[in-house]
Amino acid sequence: MRTQVGIVGAGPAGLFLALLLARDGIDCIVLEARSRDYVEGRVRAGVLEQGTVDLMHELGVAERLMRESMIDRNLDIRFEGQLIHLDLPGLAGGREVHIYGQQEVVKDLIAARLTAVQQLFEAESIAIDGIDTARPVINFRHKGEQHALECDVVAGCDGFHGIARASVPQDALAVHDHIFPFGWLGILSESRPLADMTYANHDHGFALASRRSPRISRLYVQCAVDEDIALWPDARIWEELHIRLNADHDELVEGRIFQKGVTPVRSFVAAPMRQGRLFLAGDAAHIVPPTGAKGLNLAAADVRVLARALTAFLRRGDDRLLEGYSDTCLRRVWKTVRYSTYMTTLLHRFPAHSTFERRIQLAELDYIAGSHAAQTVVAENYVGLPMETA
Ligand code: APR
Ligand code: PHB
Repeated sequence: MRTQVGIVGAGPAGLFLALLLARDGIDCIVLEARSRDYVEGRVRAGVLEQGTVDLMHELGVAERLMRESMIDRNLDIRFEGQLIHLDLPGLAGGREVHIYGQQEVVKDLIAARLTAVQQLFEAESIAIDGIDTARPVINFRHKGEQHALECDVVAGCDGFHGIARASVPQDALAVHDHIFPFGWLGILSESRPLADMTYANHDHGFALASRRSPRISRLYVQCAVDEDIALWPDARIWEELHIRLNADHDELVEGRIFQKGVTPVRSFVAAPMRQGRLFLAGDAAHIVPPTGAKGLNLAAADVRVLARALTAFLRRGDDRLLEGYSDTCLRRVWKTVRYSTYMTTLLHRFPAHSTFERRIQLAELDYIAGSHAAQTVVAENYVGLPMETA
């Protein structure tokens, strides 16, 4: 088998890249280890920045998004009986975010790709060879047989636990890793959501009230790093949500919980995002803590840069954009890691915090509550920074 761009992984990074390349007439094949059902059912965050929504429009895959997503104009932060109410478009130059589950984005991209691009599910890549040559090869297993896909370029879009980053010699990568001392326990519930996206800093820990539809709530509580989910029966989750969000039963309506999972809270950046003919994008190169829901948006921003660079290279032999790929992406990555880390530090209870550190955290929240400048900083990052240009 042979293609121009071999893409490992059918998450948002791999799928957006495939559609961008197909639009530009570049041949690519996507190899995904899991089944289509699994990939479409995986529950993740659900906040789309304006730039990600624009990308879906450009690719002609925004029809259902426009019909079913919800526009978020406000962001609330509750702490110690106070409320910070941010008017996002007012603070961030008219930009707003859309609420739409990541797996819905993935479904829309796969449906579009069915006609545009060759895709193989249950095709697990096991090795990427020859990345320092002009003919890298992806070896993969499909239906019990081993195959080789010869490419001009390989895009490693296989997430944090994939093989692409591991194919780069360890001494060629600088790794920056930070694990926060807590996790998030997330649920989906059949219940009317709170009116606005609401973050809470409470003595019991962080909580977040988001939504997926007018009848489905997406709720999170801060928990231990390696939390035993069995210790969180539904009643305990609701009780903690009421306390931390300071919301009575009329505001926070309890419903049937139909999904529960623990998300790690971690920052990770591997640089550079390139080795020879292998390019890393999305979670394969970096992860952000979930506060602010930037993971999907960052993956989309990476592959927008990568697609333009690959098209220039494969069409015209011009490798200048490819040479700049990693640096261009990392500027946005670090600013986004910074913001996600700031929001995480602002909103969580840190087990090791002294009373001094706790007072500083609450003073920061009180400052934001009273400062238009501080609110602008939170809002303009939340709706998404402008795209980097090479
Ligand atoms: N071969 C083929 N596919 C693989 C392999 C492999 N060896 N290893 C992993 N994959 C697949 C995974 O099954 C997954 O579908 O790669 C895909 C990676 O997708 P994501 O983990 O979703 O990563 P990415 O596309 O970078 O999306 C960015 O945004 O909300 C965040 O972390 C969240 O998924 C998220 C991300
Ligand atoms: C979500 O809706 O899943 C979500 C929203 C905001 C976040 C994180 C996750 O900061």
